[in-house]
Amino acid sequence: KVVIIDYGSQVTQLIARRVREAGVYSEIHPCTTPLEQLRALKPNALILSGGPCSVSEDGAPQLDPGLVELGLPILGICYGMQLLAKELGGQVERAKEREYGRAHLAIATACPLWEGLPEAPTQTVWMSHGDHVLAPPPGFEVIASTEKVHVAAMADLGRSIYAVQFHPEVAHTEHGEQILHNFLFKVAKLKGKWTMGSFIETCVAEMQAKIGETGQVVCGLSGGIDSTVAALLLHRAIGKRLHCIFVDNGLLRAGEREEVIGFLTAHFDLNLHTVDAQDLFLGKLAGVTDPEQKRKIIGYTFIEVFEREAKAISNVEFLAQGTLYPDVIESVSFRGPSAVIKSHHNVGGLPDRMQLKLVEPLRELFKDEVRKVAAQLGLPDFIIWRHPFPGPGLAIRVIGEITAERLEILRQADAIVQQELHASDWYRKMWQGFAVLLPVKSVGVMGDDRTYEHVCALRLVESVDAMTADWARVPPEILARMSNRIINEVKGVNRVVLDISSKPPATIEWE
Ligand code: XMP
Repeated sequence: KVVIIDYGSQVTQLIARRVREAGVYSEIHPCTTPLEQLRALKPNALILSGGPCSVSEDGAPQLDPGLVELGLPILGICYGMQLLAKELGGQVERAKEREYGRAHLAIATACPLWEGLPEAPTQTVWMSHGDHVLAPPPGFEVIASTEKVHVAAMADLGRSIYAVQFHPEVAHTEHGEQILHNFLFKVAKLKGKWTMGSFIETCVAEMQAKIGETGQVVCGLSGGIDSTVAALLLHRAIGKRLHCIFVDNGLLRAGEREEVIGFLTAHFDLNLHTVDAQDLFLGKLAGVTDPEQKRKIIGYTFIEVFEREAKAISNVEFLAQGTLYPDVIESVSFRGPSAVIKSHHNVGGLPDRMQLKLVEPLRELFKDEVRKVAAQLGLPDFIIWRHPFPGPGLAIRVIGEITAERLEILRQADAIVQQELHASDWYRKMWQGFAVLLPVKSVGVMGDDRTYEHVCALRLVESVDAMTADWARVPPEILARMSNRIINEVKGVNRVVLDISSKPPATIEWE
């Protein structure tokens, strides 16, 4: 495996991806990880990431010389290169200005890192740096230069230590993929046989080791892909010692509970317990209209229910969560303990309150990798391609007061949106598509009668990571069908509007 040491670059995750896409397992670890811990991971090669600091700045993360002494092949990228230069006795110059964007790289020395690259005089690479290496350390030679930077890449060929000032992991670097492959296969001589199937084996073995022979684990299961995959991996690892809890909080979509529970019980022999908590949740939400208040009440009530259920199982030591890599913002961890976990993955406060230890089988993976694992585990498309659904559920899509009646109206309208998205190929093309019930009534006419009923909004968005999003340009015929069906089939709605806001400045959800 390749261990990527993260110095805080925005694109560290991309390095991990590219390495795994090449069939080599990789893990990202923050640069604050002690040497002993890194050694215990038994890596075959190291990649040092870029980062926002200047190596000479106070408090900037440094390179533990012990890392180099491990004798492993190393690739330093950007900040990683400057660290190697500084630590091994080269010279790093503090920049007057940043270089950002395309540069043209001319190869100076043939070496394994450049194998198979086309013989053009220069190739485009992507730069994003302040400092640069002025003189390589003893034992290193300059293996490529650009117009602005003489030491754009350097290597100690004998020790298999390579460093590049540019970012091979980003798509703008013309032959970046080839360069990374060369590091993995020509320099580090790795095999590239890793697949998502091997991830499952490794993960199951690691979970078994962590949980031990007798440990009991509880896990909240929502039927979303992350919690389902996490639960199934743990189920493979420890069987019935995994206790899954599905909480029906009355804020689920039409048919959701039946669909999820029905599928899981038909295909897997899980220890699965369903809790009916609709009345409890709806009671606590009665009369509440403030979005933050809604979220807090739902969060606390979830803990209350979960804690009660978990306590009924004896000797629970662990809580499983479907946290993914992007949820664990470790990139900036050297600036302090800032691992931020999205509230929805976190059964907030529970681990401390119940003194549970966390197990997070997916914390190294990206969403699309989880989808691959899900496919390997035999999960059907309806789980693999399910749109994200927020923890607070329909409560944050019924704008204003939440009542059983208003929830039911939204549920019916939303079911039509889902059906129409599935009927076209838009469900898969889209990040999320759903209906929102507005706290507005409007006048309409049905037959000869005046109506005065609810307004429903369609929220259909495209996004890659939910950080930014745009409204999806769904063809008017599909919108027309949704609107017609909602107005005709859902009693209580006489008007449908389309939300055409992007994020930012709007958000995906309305509350
Ligand atoms: P926003 O509305 O912030 O949403 O643009 C971004 C993404 O996160 C989802 N979301 C949540 N998921 N618990 C969740 O599990 C929450 O409290 C929550 N709030 C928003 C939202 O559906 C979108 O995919």
